[in-house]
Amino acid sequence: MTGANRVKLKPGDTVGILGGGQLGRMLAMAAARLGLRCQIFSPDPESPAFDVVLNATCAEYADVEALELFANDVDVITYEFENVPASAAMVLSSRRPVLPDRKILETTQDRLAEKDFVTGLGIGTADYVDVSTAAGLRGAIARIGLPAVIKTRRFGYDGKGQAIIRDGDDPGRVWTELGTKSAILESFVPFEREISVIAARAADGTVECYDVTENEHRDHILKISRAPAAIPATLAEEARAIAGRIATALDYVGVLAVEMFVLADGGAEPKVLVNEIAPRVHNSGHWTLDGASVSQFEQHIRAIAGWPLGKPVRHGAVTMTNLIGDEIKDYEQWLAVPGATVHLYGKGAPRPGRKMGHVTEVAAVTKSAPPR
Ligand SMILES: Nc1ncnc2c1ncn2[C@@H]1O[C@H](COP(=O)(O)OP(=O)(O)O)[C@@H](O)[C@H]1O
Ligand SMILES: [Mg+2]
Repeated sequence: MTGANRVKLKPGDTVGILGGGQLGRMLAMAAARLGLRCQIFSPDPESPAFDVVLNATCAEYADVEALELFANDVDVITYEFENVPASAAMVLSSRRPVLPDRKILETTQDRLAEKDFVTGLGIGTADYVDVSTAAGLRGAIARIGLPAVIKTRRFGYDGKGQAIIRDGDDPGRVWTELGTKSAILESFVPFEREISVIAARAADGTVECYDVTENEHRDHILKISRAPAAIPATLAEEARAIAGRIATALDYVGVLAVEMFVLADGGAEPKVLVNEIAPRVHNSGHWTLDGASVSQFEQHIRAIAGWPLGKPVRHGAVTMTNLIGDEIKDYEQWLAVPGATVHLYGKGAPRPGRKMGHVTEVAAVTKSAPPR
């Protein structure tokens, strides 16, 4: 029972959001524009999302009483991060609908379960092997070859919890440094580019995908997203179809992101491999705030509210630049860039690697008359 079909919010109703980062903040701002209230639950008293809502719960995810009181105050519950503890999701879902359904987290919190799920749909991924010991890692390398990427099955983000293994590296040492008992080894994909698709699915099964986004990472952290991706139309359609199939197979309600690699494949037709699924709004979809008629945040709120999804129209060629760490200090320069829209997350100290804000620039695409 997902509860999805029971949810039909009215303006003035309240959405509960687990997690108080910038994603929760932007979800709450999108909800406010639709006349909905939000209540944030986050253990961090410095949560940037607290600043934009009237009611917030600052408590640990293990605090059952706080979870129950929070649930009583809201009409539907969603989350802005995928590592919601299963126990918290269980407590909440006994009181209010939790969307996307908490069972989806079991698949997407675990890289092995996620890859098994994706390949089970007949969708390509990098080759991968389950690894739980140093000896297992040696065996996996023998099967997959090098270079390869070792990743912890759980809690990885922004390149944390993973390492590239190259010829000559000592697998025993890599294993000790990774510091886990459950990992996967993936073949290294010599990708031509990285793309993502932001897809939304409503409770009635309707799916809306945004145009494919092309992503550039710096130090494993997303730096620039561009939409549309510079890929052939057939490949873009394939990527969007993959995201839609994943959303449908998960019986998903809300917005999800599917990260993919584009493989040049030695002159043959390029193809896409799925890298990972994020069961939430995603950094590579921030361009939709200013570059599309309906943002990913609004789309997520519409889906979990039981409202019709928007049919997003892109306004032009969009570039989104993350302001990471000290780059936030340049905000006044960005504010002066003609046509740029600046988003600052209201976070405290700009630690290295911390996402502090982003800037969107939309270049209008002029429709020229077809050549005669
Ligand atoms: N198998 C792979 N082959 C090549 N590059 C990879 C591979 N897996 C990950 N990467 C690179 O590392 C980045 C982060 O990996 P990812 O699995 O997306 O973890 P997360 O985003 O959770 O840190 C990817 O965006 C990609 O640039
Ligand atoms: Mg990723």
